[in-house]
Amino acid sequence: MASLFTSFLLTLCLFVIPSLSSDPDPLQDFCVGDLRASPSINGFPCKSSVSASDFFFSGLGGPLNTSNPNGVAISPANVLTFPGLNTLGVSMNNVEFAPGGVNPPHSHPRASEAGVVIEGSVFVGFLTTNNSLFSKVINAGEMFVVPRGLVHFQWNVGKGKARLITAFNSQLPGAVVLPSTLFGSVPEIPNAVLTKTFRTDDATVNNLKSKFAV
Ligand SMILES: *[C@@H]1O[C@H](CO)[C@@H](O)[C@H](O)[C@H]1NC(C)=O
Ligand SMILES: *[C@@H]1O[C@H](CO)[C@@H](O)[C@H](O)[C@H]1NC(C)=O
Repeated sequence: MASLFTSFLLTLCLFVIPSLSSDPDPLQDFCVGDLRASPSINGFPCKSSVSASDFFFSGLGGPLNTSNPNGVAISPANVLTFPGLNTLGVSMNNVEFAPGGVNPPHSHPRASEAGVVIEGSVFVGFLTTNNSLFSKVINAGEMFVVPRGLVHFQWNVGKGKARLITAFNSQLPGAVVLPSTLFGSVPEIPNAVLTKTFRTDDATVNNLKSKFAV
């Protein structure tokens, strides 16, 4: 019996707990981030004095300006904009789309994502590590999930604007946005790597680099 219990505990420790966790668990009620300090072991040091306003944030509202080549704009509520999230393992984004707007293929290395459409009609898709695309058009009130780290995108397929609210199990999920990662890095990825990778020529790679240069 005892050994059964021990192996149950071991299984729990080895498999269940790591698969549920993203950011580490907090060790105290809260730790409002002191953004003037450098991040320490993992996150920001705690502010020494806090007030109610540290736990409220009004920056998720729109409307945002979506006049840009992708027709999409994002306002994040993560630890950098809302330091009260420090050590709590959650964050949210407001994502707004012009008609036809695309949130380009990207991934969040530190979080799974859950989202809900607030307005409009959005084609939402994610890709698995074996290149299967899971996608659907969803409307206001409908929800989606993106497993941690997988590449995903959203496309406004409705006639008007669209808006999503997304939530993450990390205070700072991070975003690897494929076009700018590959074609807008500093310093640049050498053309020899990109022409071979995409089986194309220098002119095509230079054209893409010119669009994503920062
Ligand atoms: C929206 O952004 C565009 C491009 O940066 C700018 O030209 C335009 O003036 C902005 N519109 C508003 C209402 O701020
Ligand atoms: C990828 O994996 C899924 C199951 O997760 C399977 O249904 C699908 O056939 C696989 N696709 C390829 C291209 O191997």
